[in-house]
Amino acid sequence: MAEISPVKILIVDDETAQMKALCNTLKDHGYETFGFVSAHAALAAMDGTNFDLLLTDLMMPEMDGIALLKAALQKNADLVGIIMTGEGTITRAVEAMKSGALDFILKPFRLSAILPVLDRALAVRRLRLENAALERRIRERTAELESANEELESFSYSVSHDLRTPLHHIASFVELLDESCGASLAPSDRDYLNRITAATEKMNCLIEDLLDFSRMGRAEMRRSRVDLQNLLETVIEELQPEIAGRNILWKKGPLPTVQGDPSLLRQVFSNLLLNAVKYTRPREVAEIEIGYVHGPRETTIFVRDNGVGFDMQYADKLFGVFQRLHRKDEFEGTGIGLANVRRIIARHGGRTWAEGKFNSGATFYFTLPH
Ligand SMILES: Nc1ncnc2c1ncn2[C@@H]1O[C@H](COP(=O)(O)OP(=O)(O)OP(=O)(O)O)[C@@H](O)[C@H]1O
Ligand SMILES: [Mg+2]
Repeated sequence: MAEISPVKILIVDDETAQMKALCNTLKDHGYETFGFVSAHAALAAMDGTNFDLLLTDLMMPEMDGIALLKAALQKNADLVGIIMTGEGTITRAVEAMKSGALDFILKPFRLSAILPVLDRALAVRRLRLENAALERRIRERTAELESANEELESFSYSVSHDLRTPLHHIASFVELLDESCGASLAPSDRDYLNRITAATEKMNCLIEDLLDFSRMGRAEMRRSRVDLQNLLETVIEELQPEIAGRNILWKKGPLPTVQGDPSLLRQVFSNLLLNAVKYTRPREVAEIEIGYVHGPRETTIFVRDNGVGFDMQYADKLFGVFQRLHRKDEFEGTGIGLANVRRIIARHGGRTWAEGKFNSGATFYFTLPH
């Protein structure tokens, strides 16, 4: 373990006897003390030493404790300050606290009374430093993540983009082959050709979805006020072709007005509602509920259905690219819808999650910060 160096305390008091007594007492308690009768000399000492705490008298002739503390904080923002003051100057003590002092102690005091005040100030300082270190780490990690994401995005963009050309070639040559000798093919060879065509079409869909997905991460956000109730009605209107012939019991909102990118949020609703409609298909009467909960920091919106549900074990997987829990012959799709939802909501600073039960419906949640 690294050796812990003693706490360094800068003590400033124009009364020499008082200053010396403080220095000695605190030294006896394991602190490293540096005493000055002049504020200017104390400030000069800060250039060579990294102090943890400043203990200063308030009323001093050449520079008062408040001015000294302000100047000291300019030099070392991590320093904590405690002001010592006579009882008559309590309003100045309050002023000192406003200018950045962490605490004050009224004179006259017994020297031992200062110890708990110091302990508290140093504990606060430690917390502040730990907090700052944590914040710094979060910033660094976020920057790392962002750049990894960007790299991945441009990688997946260029890969999917470059895959298009050879795929297009395969499809074109299959077509030529079909034109030149399609008529004379044996049924099994005909079947092979059809399978190649079907596979290239599927791959083409995957590539297009992947390209859309990486475009989504790059598109600029345009924030405005969005009336989610309106948006919901529009999206449901657009879903009419999928809904035709179905018996769906809607429970719609009311939904709030939020801050966000209207066209991106529309895609969120479109994906979630399309899923709810799709995965309730086996139900005689599908029930789809859209609602929200207003929290202190964020609004949580949910889309609930009584469809086929899923095993909770895979709840987080669903949001991955091309992750599907249902077979294509049961429910069509490429598995990109929820990945888009997660990405859009993350860009809004929100979270996404799902709850479900096999064969007993599913609920998808997302949050939007206020
Ligand atoms: N409402 C739901 N109920 C049950 N399972 C769901 C529901 N919504 C999504 N899922 C499961 O999550 C998987 C991923 O959903 P996602 O929307 O990303 O893809 P998809 O619907 O299969 O295809 P598409 O890319 O066309 O949206 C689905 O394949 C399905 O297994
Ligand atoms: Mg989907």
